[in-house]
Amino acid sequence: MRVAATLKVNGTLYPLEIEPHASLLRAVREQIALTGAKEGCDDSECGACMMLLDGEPVNSCSYLALQAQGREVTTVEGLAPPGELSDLQRAFLEHGGVQCGFCTPGMLISATALLRRPGTPSEEEVRTALAGNLCRCTGYEGIVNAVLAVARSRSEPLESARTRGA
Ligand code: FES
Ligand code: FES
Repeated sequence: MRVAATLKVNGTLYPLEIEPHASLLRAVREQIALTGAKEGCDDSECGACMMLLDGEPVNSCSYLALQAQGREVTTVEGLAPPGELSDLQRAFLEHGGVQCGFCTPGMLISATALLRRPGTPSEEEVRTALAGNLCRCTGYEGIVNAVLAVARSRSEPLESARTRGA
């Protein structure tokens, strides 16, 4: 039995018929055809399925689609306008933070949530924020460097304003 539900994903409302036990990951991938979030472990272990729910990262494999009603869901496809890359996505490419790419959508979601918080994260804070995202290829160095580079570049205008006494 399916039930009618509406999900708001990347700013668009999608009226759907959803199985009550369906995960948010399945609903988004199979019914909305946004396949950026990946199914790795399907057990809250790898982070490949991460999406933002009202700005906070969640493992969408372990979150019921029905519970996401009335909330803002953001997938990796919603991090930049279609055909464009966010500064974080560009930094992943520039710093060697992508190899097979399977973990990349989840990494980008976790890092995006971190970078939206006030302040400039330290390396330790970046590693802590990404602790729920597993990568089998990169050794994490390039990923962490990419996030730190974006954190620094976003803080520079604030720093120079402070130096000028603004
Ligand atoms: Fe969801 Fe691994 S697929 S945490
Ligand atoms: Fe392959 Fe991370 S780039 S799992």
